[in-house]
Amino acid sequence: MPLDDLDKWVQDIQKEIIEEAIMQYNEHIVELIQNPKNWGKPKNDDISVWHAYEGPCGDTMHFFLKIENDIIEKAHFITDGCGATVAAGSQTTMMIEGKPLVYAESLKPIDIDNALGGLPNDHKHCAELAFKTLTRAIEKYRYKNITKYK
Ligand code: FES
Repeated sequence: MPLDDLDKWVQDIQKEIIEEAIMQYNEHIVELIQNPKNWGKPKNDDISVWHAYEGPCGDTMHFFLKIENDIIEKAHFITDGCGATVAAGSQTTMMIEGKPLVYAESLKPIDIDNALGGLPNDHKHCAELAFKTLTRAIEKYRYKNITKYK
């Protein structure tokens, strides 16, 4: 294949992948898969608690929370999971940033799923993975901060 044709071929493939993703997921989810918000490990000063959780499917999610006065100032995540997992992690961090811990603790997987506009049935567990990682990170934070004063 001539080199000029290669660029077009790559563009066509990318377009095809995106169109396939849009057929499987809605546009909001596809946008988060392509440009996940709050992706990555922040610098250490911005981590009050970090937790990694492996779901039953074998995918792992990590949450990094910066908490001040029981307010989640910053939330970041990484995952080795599928696109839906990336979208679920990203959506969760967006929902909890700037919110009190009690608000984050009140969230359920269905809230994440609804905010995403609905994951396909075979990917509902991706919202569950984000939820469980978040819940355990907050539990760890609360445990650390209770025992600190004993
Ligand atoms: Fe494992 Fe999405 S497929 S969490």
